[in-house]
Amino acid sequence: MAKAVKAGRLPTHIPGFDTLCNGGFVHDSVNLITGGTGTGKTIFCLQFLHNQLMQGKRGLYISFEENLDALVGDAMLFGWDFAKLQKEGKCWFITFQPVTGPGLQAEFVHLIQEKKIDIVIVDSISVLAMMYEYNYFKMRKELYILSDTLKKLGVTALFTAEIEGEAPLDISGGGKLSRDGVVEFIADSVITVHNAGIGGESDRAIRVLKMRRTKHEKGPVPLAITEKGMEVSKPTKF
Ligand SMILES: Nc1ncnc2c1ncn2[C@@H]1O[C@H](COP(=O)(O)OP(=O)(O)OP(=O)(O)O)[C@@H](O)[C@H]1O
Ligand SMILES: [Mg+2]
Repeated sequence: MAKAVKAGRLPTHIPGFDTLCNGGFVHDSVNLITGGTGTGKTIFCLQFLHNQLMQGKRGLYISFEENLDALVGDAMLFGWDFAKLQKEGKCWFITFQPVTGPGLQAEFVHLIQEKKIDIVIVDSISVLAMMYEYNYFKMRKELYILSDTLKKLGVTALFTAEIEGEAPLDISGGGKLSRDGVVEFIADSVITVHNAGIGGESDRAIRVLKMRRTKHEKGPVPLAITEKGMEVSKPTKF
């Protein structure tokens, strides 16, 4: 029997973002936040997670390389007190060592079920994909299984991916949207973040490149990062 689809959307509550995509992410979906280095992928994830925790959801942040104390400390600069939320048993920050093997999936599943997790962040999925770099088909299969497993567990996930250089604005040329070139096809939505690197007010942009089951804004829109986090400028018409 087909699983019932949860009604409504999961808003990010990132100012200006949800109006781009019909109110936010689809429930039980896997979403990719991708872009070059320093474009704001981690900040997007932390802000979304924090806003969801404030709504009573429970979250798991999986990192493969970041120093978690530094990450939690940096989040505090935006006023997001994850140390407190962790102590209250509302979220878990864990780091996995990049080792190959099926043990990883099993550990994810166990944690999600045990802690009754609603939101999962994987920052970054590129590190996980690299574990299977030697075998493209295995990488594709493992990423698909991970996404499918999360969705079946009733989780809404954000994956970040790295791109060498910048995410292409013209995608007609078929450029990759992640280092592996696979995860963008598996994800239900792809959000690209851009940083022209020239400074100034209009330096940053964000774009909903695809979102299944959603009428969304197509083009890039201006993005700002301030001491309160991210803020998207509303497009004049949609
Ligand atoms: N308080 C702040 N005010 C304005 N901009 C900030 C502030 N804090 C961070 N930034 C900007 O955000 C960028 C870092 O964002 P973030 O760590 O989310 O990027 P990322 O895409 O995850 O990068 P990486 O590829 O290193 O993982 C910084 O390089 C800086 O430009
Ligand atoms: Mg990051």
